[in-house]
Amino acid sequence: MAEKAVLGFLEKNEGIPDSGQFAAERGINHDELVNVIKSLHGFGFVDSQDIKRERWVLTDEGRAYAATGSPEVQFFLAIPTEGIPPEELQRKLNPSVFKIGRSQAMKNQWVEMGKQRVTRKVLNVEDTVKDLLIWLQDGQAINPEDIDALKRRKLIAPQIWKGYSIRKGTNYAPERKKAATDLTRDHLQRGDWKELEFKEYNFSAKGQPTEGGHLHPLLKVRQQLQMIFLQMGFEEMPTNNFVESSFWNFDALFQPQQHPARDSHDTFFLQVPSTTKMLPEDYVERVKHVHELGGYESRGYGYDWKREEANKNLLRTHTTAVSSRMLYLLAQKPFAPKKYYSIDRVFRNEAVDRTHLAEFHQIEGLVCDRGLTLGMSKLRFKPAYNPYTEPSMEIFGFHEGLNKWVEIGNSGMFRPEMLLPMGLPEDVRVIAWGLSLERPTMILYKIDNIRDLFGHKVDLSLIKRNPICRLGIE
Ligand code: PHE
Repeated sequence: MAEKAVLGFLEKNEGIPDSGQFAAERGINHDELVNVIKSLHGFGFVDSQDIKRERWVLTDEGRAYAATGSPEVQFFLAIPTEGIPPEELQRKLNPSVFKIGRSQAMKNQWVEMGKQRVTRKVLNVEDTVKDLLIWLQDGQAINPEDIDALKRRKLIAPQIWKGYSIRKGTNYAPERKKAATDLTRDHLQRGDWKELEFKEYNFSAKGQPTEGGHLHPLLKVRQQLQMIFLQMGFEEMPTNNFVESSFWNFDALFQPQQHPARDSHDTFFLQVPSTTKMLPEDYVERVKHVHELGGYESRGYGYDWKREEANKNLLRTHTTAVSSRMLYLLAQKPFAPKKYYSIDRVFRNEAVDRTHLAEFHQIEGLVCDRGLTLGMSKLRFKPAYNPYTEPSMEIFGFHEGLNKWVEIGNSGMFRPEMLLPMGLPEDVRVIAWGLSLERPTMILYKIDNIRDLFGHKVDLSLIKRNPICRLGIE
């Protein structure tokens, strides 16, 4: 209807100077008219020019006064001719009407505020504020001083009105035929396809985005780290067991049974099956001995080591559990130097926050050979403690987004109390470390909340759109 009105009007007239006026005169919704003008303009049926006008609209407060009268008049009318004690007047009016009404009525010199009595100073008052507001609401013009006064009282606010002035465009026609998009069987049967105008093909239209699999950033970073390890000649350790016994997770690592990490606050223990069935008995004996009494020049911990504690099943708290299995296996054969790595999931009973989850991925590496020593961008090492390493160092990386150093890993040299009961030769040294996969990924992908990276809150579009990961190798 709006389109017909515009094209029809332009057939006989030069142009439409003001879309607002045009819409009002014909009872057309202006927004609808604007859409029609934009579309006609796009197809060259009309030329259009923007018009902007500032107009005044009533604020919520202004609308309230337009309906119920200004507070000063309400205040005035609440005063009986014989006057009224101020407290009583206050009770009659709502607090904001009382406060605003009082100050305006005094400014207008309508009332006398005595200590005992409030009295009228004039006989009648006119509610000009209310009248002005109603006029404005009806779209009538009011003079600039009045506008100023209403604006200062925040009863009106400016609103930018946008419309168009239009004239015929180069493709003007009194009617816009809807171009057909399909040639149908009906068209053919009726034969009206001969008169139809068909919409042109748009060969530059974008096609449907193709859907496919996408790699999660963690997988990309894992892949890159794997390449680094493989290029340096590391072999991957089999980490396909999330469930581990306390023995391999802790005891084999010379971690005493009363160590706090072995508490259910830090470790998830399994209820079913709650204990492990098989451990290498002679090795278990040597581990028990080194915990209780020491040996290999160690004093041990001097406590009563319990087999039941070692049997308890848990969700591995670190992939070092796998390292201990692998070193034990290595010790069963004639010694050969090894470089091992793994990247897999570990579980800790932690309070979840923006940098902690109850599970994460650990990147672990170890180098095992005779006579090794520790040789040493934004990396820092800090002395730390692990029952199974000496020395031990925590590794920190700088997170630009969080603007602070975050721990990315832990490292050290495995202690003789761990290695010798396994049966490794005495001069064999093992340098080992564990990193989290999440923290470096957060740094690389500028993610400052771990829950945006892993877990049920991950936004799938992150997985679809994340860039490839390059860690300086190729
Ligand atoms: N297991 C340690 C951790 O979970 C990491 C580590 C691995 C430390 C190997 C030293 C040697 O924090």
